[in-house]
Amino acid sequence: KKSEAWSALFSEPMSELVKRYTASVFFDKRLWQADIQGSLAHAEMLAAQGIIGASDLADIQRGMAQITSEIEAGTFQWQLDLEDVHLNIEARLTQLVGDAGKRLHTGRSRNDQVATDVRLWLRGETDLIIGLLTDLQRALVEVAERNVEVILPGFTHLQVAQPVSFAHHLLAYVEMFSRDAERFADVRRRTNRLPLGSAALAGTTYPLDRERVAKTLGMEGVCQNSLDGVSDRDFAIEFTAAASLCMVHISRLSEELILWMSQNFGFVKIADRFTTGSSIMPQKKNPDVPELARGKTGRVVGHLMGLITLMKGQPLAYNKDNQEDKEPLFDTVDTLKDTLRIFAEMVGGQVNPATGAKEGGITVNAAAMEAAANKGYATATDLADYLVKKGLPFRDAHETVAHAVKAATSHNCDLSELPLTVLQGFHPSIEKDVYGVLSLRGSLSARNTLGGTAPAQVREQIARHRTRLG
Ligand code: ARG
Repeated sequence: KKSEAWSALFSEPMSELVKRYTASVFFDKRLWQADIQGSLAHAEMLAAQGIIGASDLADIQRGMAQITSEIEAGTFQWQLDLEDVHLNIEARLTQLVGDAGKRLHTGRSRNDQVATDVRLWLRGETDLIIGLLTDLQRALVEVAERNVEVILPGFTHLQVAQPVSFAHHLLAYVEMFSRDAERFADVRRRTNRLPLGSAALAGTTYPLDRERVAKTLGMEGVCQNSLDGVSDRDFAIEFTAAASLCMVHISRLSEELILWMSQNFGFVKIADRFTTGSSIMPQKKNPDVPELARGKTGRVVGHLMGLITLMKGQPLAYNKDNQEDKEPLFDTVDTLKDTLRIFAEMVGGQVNPATGAKEGGITVNAAAMEAAANKGYATATDLADYLVKKGLPFRDAHETVAHAVKAATSHNCDLSELPLTVLQGFHPSIEKDVYGVLSLRGSLSARNTLGGTAPAQVREQIARHRTRLG
């Protein structure tokens, strides 16, 4: 077997420990489909170029079909001794079809082969992730649609700042996830280039038609430098960076859900199936899913650090270090996909097949949100703006309102609860219409500029997202 002695050159076999240390088959076997797809495209081109015979191609195709069904059926014998997915599949192919199997690797190295496989696999996963991001955005938009008029205290420094529409708050996350989707689409363009034909590092002596292989594989073009082709893992790092940022957005949303669910806020509930109880405290329902998502964000950011550090000391071209790109990349994809799926359902609910309606998304306690927005003088800025419209310079208005807030604080009441005569004591231009300005709804609908929280603006944004998301 190969790794016991690669060739006549080796005088001793590998120890069991070294075999285990160097083998990757137990994780890289997940690339099998991409590996076969790449091999078939390569073989088809070799035949078209007259490098292998038409009957060799037919044998390779037949063998690969057999291998595909064996892997799908779970009967394929993966062997640690054969090191990785590439050598396992090639060895089985040769066992099945003989010499044609041995001709497949003409003009190819595992170096350009693995780089191609990872790109093909990641391209497919990227498309799935973009789809999941669309689902999550839709879920957020649906919840937003029902909550345009629900008022939430907007915070800065986690101190009550100004009232905002709860829908507006959710749509902030839609913006983030829409940028994430754009980023993944952008990374996909650079992932979707073909390293095959770079061979080990310097290109090959056979008259390969690389453009043809790229076309067969649906790739946007070929890597233009063979040294770069085999050693470039930028796409993996970029992908993991995009995934990290996406997880950071998930993590911020998680943190808010956790806060909002705490007894001190009581703004929302998530369905019981996303929470767990306590083994000691009978009253507990803990937000485990958002907490884990916040925790898993650290794990994905860690993978980004791992990958970027993996590359920093490598001389050109391929080095075995690159085998270490797979586990962090695979785990990043798995973690992100699971997280996006679970969040789309946790936020938006699940379709009940009996009724066709979505059920079990987040439950909003509008009264608790509004009561919280009524604490903390959320409309103080509105009073300052009111005075500016009466002719005061903004800085003077700001100072005047600070006095009013101080008075209201000492009376333990809201600004809107101060009698008109008291308010007029702060400035004579204040009239009865001030109470509209001091109300949460008045404050909200006054912010009617593009991107603002006025219900009219929020409805326009919802319509835009609806069109964009289809
Ligand atoms: N399993 C290897 C990897 O993941 C495949 C390439 C091996 N190439 C080599 N020259 N040892 O990178």
